[in-house]
Parts: sequence; C-alpha cells; structure tokens
Amino acid sequence: MRIRPLTGALGAEIKDVDLANLTEQTHEQIEAAFHQHLVLVFPDQSLTTPDLLALTHQLGGPGETPYLQGLSDFPDVVPIIKAASEKSPISFGSGWHTDFTFQSAPPSRTLLYALVTPPQGGDTLFTNLYLAYEALSDGLKKLLTPLNSLHSATRSYGPSSTLQNQLENMVITKETEEPAEQAHPVIRIHDVTGRPALWVNPTYTLRFENMTEQESQPLLNYLNALATNPSNTCRVRWQKDSLTVWDNRCTQHCATSDYHGHRREMLRTTVKGQPPKGVAL
Ligand code: SIN
Repeated sequence: MRIRPLTGALGAEIKDVDLANLTEQTHEQIEAAFHQHLVLVFPDQSLTTPDLLALTHQLGGPGETPYLQGLSDFPDVVPIIKAASEKSPISFGSGWHTDFTFQSAPPSRTLLYALVTPPQGGDTLFTNLYLAYEALSDGLKKLLTPLNSLHSATRSYGPSSTLQNQLENMVITKETEEPAEQAHPVIRIHDVTGRPALWVNPTYTLRFENMTEQESQPLLNYLNALATNPSNTCRVRWQKDSLTVWDNRCTQHCATSDYHGHRREMLRTTVKGQPPKGVAL
C-alpha cells in the first residue's frame, strides 16, 4: 500500500489497494491512515454497487439518509448526478458543510465513488477542523468549549429551500414545516482519536444555544472563515473509479460547480456515527 499526502493539512492518496477484497491487515492499515489524514482517495478501484455497500458495512454500516432518494435496489446508496443538459450550474453539496450535522448522531464518514467525471472541474475541497481548533486563541478555546450550537436542515431542506429546482436529476424532498434544531458541542472530541475539533459549519449551524441568530452570526462567520482558511484544506481531483472516504467528525467539505455542460455522476453512502461528545467539564 502506497500513501501520498495531498497537502500539509489533510488528505492522502492510497495506491495498490483493492477495496473490493480488503484483508483484515489492510483494513487496519487503512484505518490508521484514515485517522492520520482524515480524507483518503483510492484511485483505480473497480467497485460494483454491492461492493460499495459491502465496504460501507465493513466501515461500520450505513447511516440514515433523509431527503435524498437512493437507488431503488440499494436505498442506502445515493446517486449524486449532474447532467450535461442541466440548466443550473449549481452542483449538490456546493457550500462548505459537514454531512447531516442536523441529525442527533450524524454520519461518522462518507464514501463517494466516481462513475462519470467531467473533463475538468467538479473537484471536492476538504478542510481540517482539528487545525481550525488549534488556531483558536486560548481565550476563544475557553469561551467555546462549554457551548453548544444548534444545527438544522432548514437552509437545504426546509420549506423554502430551492435545492430540487437546481438539481434536475436528483430526487430531493423537503420539509413542509420548519425542521427541528439539534444541539451539538461547538468543540467536538473525536470518538476514536480523542482530539478536539472546531465543529460548526456554515450550511447547518444556525446559532449558539440560548443565543439568537443575530447574536451568533458574527462569531460563527469568524469561525467558519477560520475553518476554511486555505492553509487547512486539500482539493480532491476526481477520476472515474476513484473512491474518496472522509471523516465527518473532524472535516468539512465543499463540492465545486465549475463543470456546467458536462456530466458528473457519483455514488454516495454514509457510515452511521455516534452522538457527538464535547470536552468533559
Ligand atoms: C457531498 O457533499 O456529499 C457531495 C460532494 C461532491 O459531490 O463532491
């Protein structure tokens, strides 16, 4: 197995591994690399949909996927499709976010497998939220550590969301009433590594608990800018048959919408996670 880091911040490409036939030993090596690099890219895989699902089970089993329609035979596998003929250039997931943080136990990881890629563009950006935490001053770490923030699906899947209009080839449902808010620690302790991460994101985090959106937004804006500082990021350039796995407990990601007029087709699964834990006070 060959490991090549993508940037100094996070991400690694792993070669000479067949994910459809993982041995116990290789699985352990991949887990160690995953917790070191947070985002792993496996080029030149040859995965069927059942292989992708079997891998998802090996990594902990599928999480719950609301709002997005999965394949009819494999409801846990969601096609992420942008067709060449679509009117809107907007692609799915094209704002910084961590997957489904509006859930009480958001997915620990996400797997994304490339079936069709545009000739250029359609990359995915990732950022390291451990580094974002480490960049905070001692004073701000102390202030944020006891706080919860409230996450909601409203901006993407609430009654006035327009995501479905922009994604003609995906089936996306939305709430008819305002979705519930979910409290999570602002500083999350990773359940495997024990490391603290700055765990807010601009898509689903609405405000700090017991504060208004207006009061929260200036500090959230500062934290989101810190989290997505280019020095904390890496960029995954997709090729057909690449699989990328990322850790939702310590990263954010953002798809790019720069391939209008070209097809991009991916298969996505998530791995179920634990309710996030904060620092024991
Ligand atoms: C996602 O946000 O889950 C999808 C990202 C991508 O398609 O690059």
